[in-house]
Amino acid sequence: MKNLGIWHGGDYSPEQWLDEPEILKKDLEYMKKAGINTVTMGMFAWSFLEPEEGVFDLSWLKERVDILYKNGISTIMGTPSGARPKWMADRYQEVLRVDDTGRRQRFGGRHNHCCTSPVYREKIKTVNEKLAEQFASHPGVRMWHISNEYGGECHCPLCQDAFRKWLEKRYGTIERLNRSWCTAFWSHGYQSFDQVESPSSIGETMVHGLNLDWKRFVTDQTMDFARWEAASLREAGAKQPVTTNFMYDYQGLNYRKLSQAVDVISWDTYPLWHKEKEILTARDNGMQHDFMRSLKKKPFLLMESCPSSTNWQGVSKLKKPGLLRLASWQAVAHGSDSVLYFQIRQSPGSWEKFHGAVIDHYGKTDTRVFEEVSLIGKELAFLGELAGTGVRPQAALIYDVENRWAMEDAQGPRNKGLYYHETCVKIYSAIKKMGFNVDVITMEDSLEDYRLVAAPMLYLYRSKIEEKMERFVRSGGQLVTTYWSGIVDESDRCFSGGVPHGLREVMGLRSTEIDGLYDWERNYMVPASGEKGERYECRNLCDLVRLDGAEALMVYENDFYKGYPALTRNHYGKGMAYYVCADGEQDFYDDLFWKVACEAGIKPLVEGLIPEEVEVTSRESDQYEYLFLQNFSRQPAVLEQKLLDSLSDGRRLLGEISGKGEIEPYGTVIIRRDLHRS
Ligand code: GLA
Ligand code: ZN
Repeated sequence: MKNLGIWHGGDYSPEQWLDEPEILKKDLEYMKKAGINTVTMGMFAWSFLEPEEGVFDLSWLKERVDILYKNGISTIMGTPSGARPKWMADRYQEVLRVDDTGRRQRFGGRHNHCCTSPVYREKIKTVNEKLAEQFASHPGVRMWHISNEYGGECHCPLCQDAFRKWLEKRYGTIERLNRSWCTAFWSHGYQSFDQVESPSSIGETMVHGLNLDWKRFVTDQTMDFARWEAASLREAGAKQPVTTNFMYDYQGLNYRKLSQAVDVISWDTYPLWHKEKEILTARDNGMQHDFMRSLKKKPFLLMESCPSSTNWQGVSKLKKPGLLRLASWQAVAHGSDSVLYFQIRQSPGSWEKFHGAVIDHYGKTDTRVFEEVSLIGKELAFLGELAGTGVRPQAALIYDVENRWAMEDAQGPRNKGLYYHETCVKIYSAIKKMGFNVDVITMEDSLEDYRLVAAPMLYLYRSKIEEKMERFVRSGGQLVTTYWSGIVDESDRCFSGGVPHGLREVMGLRSTEIDGLYDWERNYMVPASGEKGERYECRNLCDLVRLDGAEALMVYENDFYKGYPALTRNHYGKGMAYYVCADGEQDFYDDLFWKVACEAGIKPLVEGLIPEEVEVTSRESDQYEYLFLQNFSRQPAVLEQKLLDSLSDGRRLLGEISGKGEIEPYGTVIIRRDLHRS
């Protein structure tokens, strides 16, 4: 297969126009014009692939793949499990999902099949085999895309049964399950596994261990289904890599686990631009890119993004000129080997008829969107050498979905907003502002490759994270952790003997109590020395700690805990452990991480101060470092002389820095530095 550099293109559903060959012809012409080299097909085409049970027709798809390939466009081949044909729903009820109250769905919509159903598995296996037989060695098919945005859950009898077996495997005996879930509370104990039912809004929702294990089961069952799909392709001879598309900050599944079922990570990004400072949206989006890259520590694919406005968000905002290009390059900067859109051509009817597309209902190419897409196509083609390059991180942030499941379900110090996501974004932003690349990892990952690790609000400890953190600090790492950490074990059962569990010595303290603040309440952190200095606002949660070796750097200004530690530091082994007691404002984290990074002597990607609206990111090959400077503002960004000087030994590949040292509004500059220069 020839290397196409960065993939450019997107979802394409020719089945909607099979009776309009003129349209299909135009599509091809326009794709070439826009520099499109990759499309995803087949994903929602089951009723075209298998119009009647056991009757298959792949000829139309084969024809499209052939024609596209002859014209330099490759295909990512979708499997159709995301939506099923009517005949199947009518004939086999069990393929339809059952909700948590026991009600079975009717035919319609998508993403609503039962992952356990043997019939559904058999049906998808058969059609996947047909696809694989047809396309396994087709040079025009470069990857398999199984299903679409796996998600949701099914509570049917088959799934209940599978859940019970899953529990039995996990706990061995019912006594162990009862103990782990603490079912003695309210007399909720079970005598045998077959009594257990999935959480239900008209039944049990208050046993946190049950809720947590159900979510884990849903991930495992989805993963099992994904593996089934991948295996059905492989067994029929498919050699190409397999992916499936993940979603933004999706909490229904543990993506870290699911990532093991695929070869390549891909995801769909639809940020709400133009609602606040663009850079804030960029940070949030950048963190997701970094999370996706960190799942396999390899380049990922930007599988879907919208070339214009979506139609499913509260307000369908157009992207201002230049934003699509900026966001596309941001994906590449963070490690994507593609810029793909949903969708190539806008459907004429039904649910997504007003969703943005490269080709809209007008049907020609003299549109603002088409022109911007074409420009991106040209630029990506020019910079194909970026494909496959890696990202070397200077720091890691632990962002863990299982922790989030438990913490947000827990009935604790604040049930109206713990702000886990926001806190992680604040910390991520603080680190990015210094010009670092950040890996966004989970508790399942190793900390060994890092010198600076942030582990905010790790309420639940699993995967031996406390041991990993201890080792990390002992051997010289800088660890920043926070309030509400190390409270429960992996079944959400509280640790006894003081928290943060297993890290009291590392942190040099014990957390004794935690105060939930009303929304309107504020406290402040002030220097512990009593001298005048920075003063930071904190809100939501204030942890009260008793020091046992650590030194207080800041203390609370108000309330009965005035003068209690608010930020502490402890030398442990060769490293340093910081404990943040309260939900501090952005400036607090900016200053803290600046200090921590300086102490650790970690070198940022550029020297000098980075303007607030500019994101700096890099990728690396064996020979080169590619530095990306992106201005997420509608005003020019002015670079200070020191920063300009630190860029002077590189070669500019894209974008301009003006004589006055400015990057244009929404501008992207890419600079290539030789890693082996003397
Ligand atoms: C998701 C789906 C696509 C499409 C887009 C619309 O990402 O994967 O099929 O529905 O949303 O934004
Ligand atoms: Zn089911």
